[in-house]
Amino acid sequence: MARFNGKVVVVTGGSSGVGRSAAKLFAEEGAKVVVGDIVELGGQEAVSQIKAAGGEATFQKVDVTDWEGVQALVKKAVDTYGKLDVYVNNAGMLDGMANWEKTTPELWDRIININLRGYFFGAKAALPELIKTKGNIVMTASVAGLGASAGGVELTA
Ligand SMILES: NC(=O)c1ccc[n+]([C@@H]2O[C@H](COP(=O)([O-])OP(=O)(O)OC[C@H]3O[C@@H](n4cnc5c(N)ncnc54)[C@H](O)[C@@H]3O)[C@@H](O)[C@H]2O)c1
Repeated sequence: MARFNGKVVVVTGGSSGVGRSAAKLFAEEGAKVVVGDIVELGGQEAVSQIKAAGGEATFQKVDVTDWEGVQALVKKAVDTYGKLDVYVNNAGMLDGMANWEKTTPELWDRIININLRGYFFGAKAALPELIKTKGNIVMTASVAGLGASAGGVELTA
């Protein structure tokens, strides 16, 4: 039985990896999915795969570090499907496990902007719509949040 029939879900970072898999699984479970990503090609592929399997999805190009863009992503869900039930904050990047000497201020800012600022923007933009539907926010996290080790702005356990 489809567990997300009638639900509307936004997945950021939906063009590849965890996000694409999540988008496809939500659609298989009956959700209408908005795939958000800075990479258009993979996002359109994800949408095509969902539609080919009989699901419903649309793509919205977004840079999650851009507040107006993230607001537009939420608006896309509401304008296209009428509401928002689940917002999956998943877009993120690793830094290649650069060590301390190789971590430049520019790399630091890029990682922090995407992995922290982007998640804050997603939650802030989605919350007003999620309150209306008593919906949920999902945050893709990492074992790096449970322990530290050497190397990488985004540390791994
Ligand atoms: N794969 C792992 O081992 C692992 C481990 C721990 C945490 N994570 C986290 O899981 C999430 C998904 O990772 P993944 O392994 O699927 O990686 P991935 O690189 O396959 O997917 C990340 C997606 O985010 C998108 N993205 C990057 N920057 C963006 C931006 N500024 N705006 C919009 N989209 C952007 C990319 O285009 C890509 O499609 C990330 O947040 C990552 O930090 C992954």
